[in-house]
Amino acid sequence: MRLAVFASGAGSNLQAILDAIEDGSLAAEPALVVSDRPTAGALERAARAGVDQAVVEPSHFDDPEEYGAALLASLEEHGVDFVALAGFLRMVPANVIAAYRNRMVNVHPALLPAFGGKGLYGRRVHEAVLEAGVRWTGATVHLVDEHYDTGPIVLQEPVPVRQDDTPESLARRVLEMEHRLYPRALRLFAEDRVRIEGRKVWIGEEGER
Ligand code: GRF
Repeated sequence: MRLAVFASGAGSNLQAILDAIEDGSLAAEPALVVSDRPTAGALERAARAGVDQAVVEPSHFDDPEEYGAALLASLEEHGVDFVALAGFLRMVPANVIAAYRNRMVNVHPALLPAFGGKGLYGRRVHEAVLEAGVRWTGATVHLVDEHYDTGPIVLQEPVPVRQDDTPESLARRVLEMEHRLYPRALRLFAEDRVRIEGRKVWIGEEGER
């Protein structure tokens, strides 16, 4: 699996993926890191790991289609066959989603379909969770479709909400869970253990599909 990771921010999920590849628990080739921002911390992590990087800024293009064409050219050039969004704060253009249908996943810091959708990212997710008074939140890895956070769910893990949690403390604990969950989800794809039927994602046991 030749993997591209899209990231806009610090890139701690990217790091977790690179670490899993490095320690042999994820059989993937880190082909490319893509960012929409030249200052993203994720790019430094890519450089440190010796992974190729591409900065593709949407403001340099007339419309989403052209932006998508530039992304696709970069992905093609690097022979990418699977894409992981890791804190990528842009809507991925429709032509890229179509080209990587069922081969593109995202990690979200809550238990979807709750606390997802446009505008619910980063700290806002955890504020909404605390505001709602729910006892559990968590992390979700899902396939990417044309809408925010609505694609079929691949894996989820819960994280308890504590009475004294702040958005920051909750974000920290959820992020730790993301770092475990995301490489695990990618491993399922790398081992060809994922079957997708409409909104249902079936995970095969090791050795079966
Ligand atoms: C994570 O919480 C991820 O779920 C969300 O953005 C954050 C990215 O963090 N989409 P990092 O850049 O991977 O450190």
